[in-house]
Amino acid sequence: MDLKSLIRDVYDFPKEGIVFKDITTVLQDPAGLRFAVDEFEKALKDVDFDLVVGPESRGFIFGVPLAYNMNKGFIPVRKEGKLPYKTKSKEYDLEYGSAVVEIHMDAIKPGDRVVVVDDLLATGGTSKAMVELIEEMGGIVVKMVYLIELSFLKGREVLQGQDVEAIIKY
Ligand code: PRP
Ligand code: ADE
Repeated sequence: MDLKSLIRDVYDFPKEGIVFKDITTVLQDPAGLRFAVDEFEKALKDVDFDLVVGPESRGFIFGVPLAYNMNKGFIPVRKEGKLPYKTKSKEYDLEYGSAVVEIHMDAIKPGDRVVVVDDLLATGGTSKAMVELIEEMGGIVVKMVYLIELSFLKGREVLQGQDVEAIIKY
């Protein structure tokens, strides 16, 4: 399946100069959605892990079906002020701005083996914030998997030491 052909480029969204990789066109295609979730599963078939962690909102879209299919738990990382219980927070920069992400403070136990899942790796700011939150709680990030990597933004460089895999690269 040519997944790239299902990804839509939207120019100047959300800011001038950004080429936004729109995955809604993958999600609305039944074969595309299945292929994408199956590719995530393939990337993790030999990985020993307990939990999937995914960021709001597109990390939820792929993280939950993956966790469900692989019989693991899913932990949401959300933008500031959305999680109801006590949280740990981290401020970070991403390709088109900055934000704060939060995780429930009891979501990860020391020694938990965690996989981070997201739709897209750009500058790596979001992913690095997630690694820091997980590690500060005593979790071990065993793999980070993305549908899309924008290689020219060098997100891998800020994730040094991590096992990073992307299904599609630009
Ligand atoms: C996007 C994308 C990643 C992040 C990647 O999320 O889904 O999480 O940006 O960028 P980075 O590598 O430069 O950090 P966004 O914060 O736009 O939220 P959304 O999924 O709710 O649209
Ligand atoms: N997140 C960060 N940069 C992005 C881009 N260019 N397209 C879609 N999501 C993104």
